[in-house]
Amino acid sequence: MLATELGSLSLSNPVLSASGTFGSGWEGRQFSDLGRVGGLVSKTVTLRPRPGNPPPRIVETPSGMLNSIGLENKGVDYFLAETWPRMQQIAADGLAAHGARPRLLINIGGESVDDFVQLAARFSAAGVDALEVNLSCPNVQEGKLLFSTDPRLTEQAVRAVKQVATVPVFAKLSPNVTDVVAIARAAEQGGADGVTAINTLIGMKIDWRKRRPVIARGIGGLSGPAIHPVAVRMVYEIARAVRIPILAAGGARSAEDVLEFVCAGASAVQIGTAMFTDPALMVAIVDDLRQLLTGHGTTIRELRGAALAHPLAPVLACKPAEVAR
Ligand code: FUM
Repeated sequence: MLATELGSLSLSNPVLSASGTFGSGWEGRQFSDLGRVGGLVSKTVTLRPRPGNPPPRIVETPSGMLNSIGLENKGVDYFLAETWPRMQQIAADGLAAHGARPRLLINIGGESVDDFVQLAARFSAAGVDALEVNLSCPNVQEGKLLFSTDPRLTEQAVRAVKQVATVPVFAKLSPNVTDVVAIARAAEQGGADGVTAINTLIGMKIDWRKRRPVIARGIGGLSGPAIHPVAVRMVYEIARAVRIPILAAGGARSAEDVLEFVCAGASAVQIGTAMFTDPALMVAIVDDLRQLLTGHGTTIRELRGAALAHPLAPVLACKPAEVAR
């Protein structure tokens, strides 16, 4: 009932953590049985350690949160030595307890195509379940969003990663574009096994009393319930245009939100900002999903993309007489 697929990757259920909101899972394992979630997505890992952006770099907003972390992490060597074995332990515990384990996706970030390629090779060799290629962090490279706003660069980066990766590759897309479908198509053209949609929307908060932005770098990425309808719209548009699976992200905080994404065409859904206030939320959502699907006699597979079949109302033009008046 809950089972789903991201291309060749089968998941016991469609609930995953969103990169950057739950560490590697190790920090959150005390709050719930992570062996029961569909997957864990790591915080972005880069080739070399990054100190991240200066504080303040996070602020709450109405119905959301702005962040400008700047991809702080200790680099791939540290991750493979210290963090990766812990993620594997969570998966092994899940398998022992439930006969199924969360899939482990590693989110990689780079400043050049070569960075992505080296990381893809290292993590493929380590035996991760899939890679999520972060083409869309708004808080690095002076906010230029180089890869994720240019279809040509998206395709080029994905193609290069695919040449070395031996595991499925998901391209994480930015909503900060005019036409997200063009970028999703470029990722598909480059050979992506799927796309993650969406990363954060660029935003800003100003403290008028101090006459300056609250975030030290000025802008940050907006996440949380405020962006959920934007994410649903983008997942729906992408699903109409590409054949590869979609991993939805953007403000989901309930089983209802997950099913909305699934109806829009997502195969699985990441839970992010909501876990800052409830780190046990993913498992609660899995339980709620089971109850909802049982109650409605349906499955994730049956609901996937269901809304795409619904005809949309045409735009009604003004009647000539009304125009004249
Ligand atoms: O700044 C950050 O670490 C955020 C990353 C992202 O949104 O991809």
